[in-house]
Amino acid sequence: MSGTLKHAHGQWRSRIGFLLAATGSAIGLGNIWKFPYMTGTNGGSAFVLTYLLCIALVGFPLLVAEWLIGRRGQKNPMLAIEDVAKQNNQTKAWGIVGLVAIIAGFLVLSFYSVIGGWAIDYIFITLKGTFSGMSGDDTDKVFTDFLANPKSLLLWHTVFMALTIGIIAMGVSSGIERASKIMMPGLAIILLIMLVYVIFSTDTFGKGVSFLFAPDWSKINGQSVLAALGHAFFTLSLGMGIMFSYGSYLGKEINLLKTARSVIILDTIFALAAGLVIFPLVFANNLKLDSGPGLLFVTLPIAFGNMSGGIIIGALFFILVTFAALTSAISLLEPTVEFLEEKTPLNRQVAAVVGGVAVWLLGIACLLSFNEWDKFLIFGNNIFSFLDKITSKFMMPLGGLATLIFLGWFVKQQGVLSELNLSDTAAQIWSIVLRFVAPIGIIVIFIASLLS
Ligand code: PHE
Repeated sequence: MSGTLKHAHGQWRSRIGFLLAATGSAIGLGNIWKFPYMTGTNGGSAFVLTYLLCIALVGFPLLVAEWLIGRRGQKNPMLAIEDVAKQNNQTKAWGIVGLVAIIAGFLVLSFYSVIGGWAIDYIFITLKGTFSGMSGDDTDKVFTDFLANPKSLLLWHTVFMALTIGIIAMGVSSGIERASKIMMPGLAIILLIMLVYVIFSTDTFGKGVSFLFAPDWSKINGQSVLAALGHAFFTLSLGMGIMFSYGSYLGKEINLLKTARSVIILDTIFALAAGLVIFPLVFANNLKLDSGPGLLFVTLPIAFGNMSGGIIIGALFFILVTFAALTSAISLLEPTVEFLEEKTPLNRQVAAVVGGVAVWLLGIACLLSFNEWDKFLIFGNNIFSFLDKITSKFMMPLGGLATLIFLGWFVKQQGVLSELNLSDTAAQIWSIVLRFVAPIGIIVIFIASLLS
């Protein structure tokens, strides 16, 4: 890595380490419980192509923009934006965009960790054989009882946050990078084992493939394009300071465009492969097609409880979900910790504990919203869904929009283009996408999500 750009708080040790960390952030619950279902119900491969177009026009430029600004600043998202603003004679007030992004990541982690905790507990529940022979009503009861019990939710939320804090405290290369180098190949291996199992032990693999891929262009309409656009944003972990922070540990020699392409390809392959595991199981057991927590914690357990080898396959599946959630959770904590490290006298370990404990406390409010505090509503939402909504509907899209406008309109383009090493034609396309297409795309999602 470039000696002149040495970062005070460490750097990625290798390109592949950075690639795996960024892919780990991108691959999360969204890939498992959202994308496959969205694809199956919105036109199969016609939707996949629409989604890839949205990724190319909105997700890709914003991902590159966040990395580029972070790398130029070599600091936390707020200070990095301030630095780039100063270099371009713009007001330091742009730094607020970075601060809001850091806060968004902090808030998201408080409820993401609660779900991560469920996944860990479900590894053990599955191993105990609890689901054997269960019907849908039974697995539903297991889940509802679990949500009604704040003590066990607290236990697993605490375990999940402790793991997240521990990895972050170890640092960028010895913590995040090393954990990603273990968990990402782990994810791939588990998914492959499950895929082989599903191919050989169900006769519904073909049905799953056609559900997921058979193109149906008649399903592509305003709604499905919006869903694709929103997911492109979410799945790449944009608008939460994450990619700024990950970029701040990068050296100049990394090709941002190529790396972004690799992250997108891996993220999409993982999501499709997850669908190829999930849907044949759903069809083989005549289960309800579903998405979200219900799919993972109520529907799939019925399949695990009623198939041969279900205890092992089910436990592997929840390990997969835990790994996917954990590599995303560490990325959500990183911007806060980098900020604390640079803005306060705290060292990295203390900053990780202080930031992490603050998230943990807010997470307690989230988990109580399923039981003791379920009557406490903010604008009609319990705390858990209130935090989900303000982050995904407001903070993320507006932060992403501001980032694109900043880089496209307030930063000297010559420098950006030479940093990206683009040919003339590619540079023209990049400018149009960065300055017009991507911001307009985000404005459209923003307005549509307010109306829905
Ligand atoms: N990208 C993750 C997913 O697809 C979700 C996520 C969003 C993770 C924001 C971290 C931050 O599930």
